[in-house]
Amino acid sequence: MSQHRGTWKNRWTFMLATAGSAIGLGNIWKLPYMIGVNGGSAFVLVFIACIFFVGIPLMMTEIMLGRRAQQNPLDAIHSLAIEARVSTHWRWLGAMGMLAGVLILSFYSVIAGWVLSYIVAAMQNTFSHISAAQSQSSFNALLANPIQLTIWHSLFMVMVMGVVARGVNSGLEKANNVLMPALFVILFILLGYSMSVGDMRAAANFMFTPDFSKITPMAVLSALGHAFFSLSLGMGSVMVYGSYLSRDVSIARTTVWIALIDTMLGLLVGLAIYSLVFANHLAPNAGPGLLFQTLPIAFGAMPAGNIIATLFFLLVAFAAWTSAISLVEPTIAWVVENTTFKRNMVSTLLGLIIWLTGLSVVLSFNIWAEVKVLFGLNIFETLDKLTSTLMLPLGGLLMAVFAGYFMKKNHTQNEFGLHPFTYKCWRSANNIIAPVAIIAVFIYLLGLVK
Ligand code: PHE
Repeated sequence: MSQHRGTWKNRWTFMLATAGSAIGLGNIWKLPYMIGVNGGSAFVLVFIACIFFVGIPLMMTEIMLGRRAQQNPLDAIHSLAIEARVSTHWRWLGAMGMLAGVLILSFYSVIAGWVLSYIVAAMQNTFSHISAAQSQSSFNALLANPIQLTIWHSLFMVMVMGVVARGVNSGLEKANNVLMPALFVILFILLGYSMSVGDMRAAANFMFTPDFSKITPMAVLSALGHAFFSLSLGMGSVMVYGSYLSRDVSIARTTVWIALIDTMLGLLVGLAIYSLVFANHLAPNAGPGLLFQTLPIAFGAMPAGNIIATLFFLLVAFAAWTSAISLVEPTIAWVVENTTFKRNMVSTLLGLIIWLTGLSVVLSFNIWAEVKVLFGLNIFETLDKLTSTLMLPLGGLLMAVFAGYFMKKNHTQNEFGLHPFTYKCWRSANNIIAPVAIIAVFIYLLGLVK
C-alpha cells in the first residue's frame, strides 16, 4: 500500500470508485421495477429506512474493516481475527462474498447486455414515435432471442474482464468523475420530459404516499436485500476499496454522501418511469423489463430523442461496467495476492466461469423459462434472490457482528476517529439495529421455506 499519496487524491479516488461500484443497474434497472412489484410507496418507505438504519452503518463497518486490514477481504478478515484473538474461521466470510460477487455478475452481465443492445437500437432511431405496445413487443423479441442475448452478454463480459485483467484502472475512475454527473443531467432532462408528457402526480402518489397497510413481510425482505445490493454491501467490494483508503479520510461523511447519491438516483429514475407508466396505462408491476419497455416511449416522443436515448443507455452501460468490475475485484485480488498466477490468466479463467453461468441466465429468459430451480423460481430469479436476499444480508450481518462484538472497541474507535456521540450512533446501529433487522427478516424467510 503506498503511504505517500496525497489525501485529496485519495479521497477522490476512493469516493469515485465506491460510488462507481454502488451506482449501477441496481439503481436504474432494479429499484424502479422492485418498487412496482412490491406495492409502490410501502416498498420505497421501507427501502429508505433500510438504507438509513442498516445500509449506512454497515457500509461504514465494511470500509472500516478494509481500511484497518489493508488486504483483500478474505485475508483482511483473517488478519483482523488474529488481531482480535478470535477464530480465523471468520475468513470464510470473505469467501462467501467472493462467491456472491461471481453469482451476481453472471446475471448482471446479461442485463447489462440488454443495455448495450439498447444503445444500438437508440442510435438506429428505432424508438422514434414508438407506442407502448410496440416498445413491449420489441423488448420481448430481444428476450426471445438467445443468440442475441449471448452476443451482448459476451461483449459485456469482455469489457469487464479486459479492465480487470489490467489491474485497478484509475482511468476508469477518472471517467466516472465526468460520466456520473452526466448521468444526472440526462436524468433531469428525462424527468422534465416525463413530467410534461407523463403523469407525474400519479407517479409521486404511487411512490411516496405512505400506505402502511401495504407493508408486507415480502416487501420488507426485498427492500432490505436491495439496500445491500444497491450499496454493494455484504460481499467485500466496499471492503477492497476501503483497503486503499488513507487514515485521514472521514469514513462516515463519505458513506453518507455515497448512500444519498445512490438512493436519490434510483428514486429519480423511478419517478421518470412511473409517470410514463401511468400516462400510458401500463402495469406498474411489469418486472425486470420495466425500464426497457417504458423509457423508449418517452425517448421516441421527445425532440432529439435518439441522441438523448443513446447517451442515456451509454451512461447506464458505463455505470454497470464500474459496478461489475467491483464484483470480481475481491476474488481477483485474493488469487493474485496468494498464488503465483498472473492477473491476466486469473481474469480470463474467472471470466469464462461467469460467462458460462451467464449463459444459463440467458436461457432462463426464453428456452429455459419454465425450468425452476428453487421455490418455483427460474435460474435468473434464483441467482438474484439467493444473492440479494440471502448472501449479501448474511455477509453484512456477519461483518457487523465481527466488528461489533469480536473486534476490540478501541480498535474500531481509533479506525473511525469519530466524535464520541457519532461513534455511539454507529455502534448501536451496527451492534443492535442492523443485526436485529437482518435476523428478523431471516426468521421470516425460514418460516416461508418450511
Ligand atoms: N451496487 C451495484 C448496483 O447497484 C451492484 C453491486 C452489488 C456491485 C454488490 C457490487 C457488489 O448496480
